[in-house]
Amino acid sequence: MQIEFVLRRGAPASGAFALSAAPSSAAVAVAVYEGDALAGPAAEADSAVGGALSRALAAGRFKGAKSQTLELIAPAGLEVGRLLAFGLGEAEKLDELAIEQGAATAYQTVKASGLETLILDFGGFTPAQAARAAFGVALAAYRFDKYRTTEKPDKKPSITTVEIAVEDVDAARSAYAPLKALAEAIAFSRDLVSEPANVLYPAEFAARVKALEPLGLKVEILGEQELEALGMGSLLCVGLGSARETQLAVIQWLGADDPEAQPVAFVGKGVCFDTGGISLKSPEGMEDMKWDMGGAGAVAGLMHVLAGRKAKVNAIGILGLVENMPDGKATRPGDIVTSMSGQTIEVINTDAEGRLVLADALWYCQDRFKPKFMVDLATLTGAIIIALGNDYAGLYANDDPLAEGLLAASKAEGENLWRMPLPSQYERQLESLAADMKNIGGRPGGSITAALFLQKFVNDVPWAHLDIASTAWKKPSTNPTIPEGAVGFGVRLLNRLVADGFEG
Ligand code: BES
Ligand code: MN
Ligand code: ZN
Repeated sequence: MQIEFVLRRGAPASGAFALSAAPSSAAVAVAVYEGDALAGPAAEADSAVGGALSRALAAGRFKGAKSQTLELIAPAGLEVGRLLAFGLGEAEKLDELAIEQGAATAYQTVKASGLETLILDFGGFTPAQAARAAFGVALAAYRFDKYRTTEKPDKKPSITTVEIAVEDVDAARSAYAPLKALAEAIAFSRDLVSEPANVLYPAEFAARVKALEPLGLKVEILGEQELEALGMGSLLCVGLGSARETQLAVIQWLGADDPEAQPVAFVGKGVCFDTGGISLKSPEGMEDMKWDMGGAGAVAGLMHVLAGRKAKVNAIGILGLVENMPDGKATRPGDIVTSMSGQTIEVINTDAEGRLVLADALWYCQDRFKPKFMVDLATLTGAIIIALGNDYAGLYANDDPLAEGLLAASKAEGENLWRMPLPSQYERQLESLAADMKNIGGRPGGSITAALFLQKFVNDVPWAHLDIASTAWKKPSTNPTIPEGAVGFGVRLLNRLVADGFEG
């Protein structure tokens, strides 16, 4: 689908509806603010259709609230196929997220209408606001359809072009450039998360990341031999039952003026499939575990956007890529492994594998790169879903400024985080009879004890952990910028963290 900025034709003074030249294959969408009279393009459109829009508003419950829409099909007086009014909420509360979601709602409403073009006219939008609208549409139009060979024609999107009317087309285009890079990176991340595990196994994931090198990233892929030499017994024990080779991807973006400047670092759990291993999961819903690499998918997407928009920062991305399978060679409950840190771990439950992956990946990251901070992302526990539901990811941090930076980025981007505690008195739950620790802490506070486990592999460096098991995959619901399925959660959040605090 194409997104273009087009000139608003015809000033309101001329009395003509700005987009009266729009073709009959188009839907024209005009913005309405809650509680305000029709104004700008909405008023122009209303007079072009002889007041039919106001009569339709009076005959229904559309008030211009966010996510509300009202459609006039083939209205008399205008050439267009449809005239769509969409709500942006109260004018005084209009922010970037409201614009994105309004534009996304308009797109979702007409995407399978049979019409080919959607013209969005907000009236009086700045170039930055028009760019936000384009971003919302780009996110909303994401589809993972490469494996569909047949599809009911009435379900297929018909819209091929979205035109956003704006007064300064060039300024809108340049405001959109970094957001376009972000939308592309989110789509890349969503693709990784959506791919089934027979296609996206660790080496394939690594290859897709390696293929980003032309963007200016440096990518190293470490295989099992190298990981053994590094002493990563914790990461490696997860993949022992798998026919696929375990990989560690190390991605570097050196965009700061000084390529030696201390980097920021991001670490992702990349369990390409999680059967639970010998502690086998029950079958219902096990297919969800193809997205147990959502943390690594987010870090890969972040590195993509940093390179895509040439961010002035040095950043490291580390992905622990592995498949957790039951097998004659698999790790057994009760096995004791030695991590790269030297600490030993009694593996009580082979389904608590994400923390085993991150233990070595975090250690390696701080040991080699001495970063300013580390943030890890992981679909780590079912317990975080019980604690927070599906609209918040859990945030854990050993450093208040880092936590506050993440919460501010979270608010700006609409990817919700809720800070959780790291109470040292719960560490008792991880004590082992035979080793330095065990890998599970029982049911009470399951997401918290998982975070406390990770903290044992973090030295004196600001660190945050995001448990995104709750947010990586979207059930059908409300946010029109996120189609059902892979969210790409974390990409825009971390991009904002870097942009607002660590560039230049
Ligand atoms: N990948 C799962 C966590 C998960 C659950 C992600 C649901 C997404 C949706 C993780 O590896 C896991 O199995 N965690 C166990 C830990 C338990 C054995 C201590 C869990 O949450 O049940
Ligand atoms: Mn598991
Ligand atoms: Zn897992």
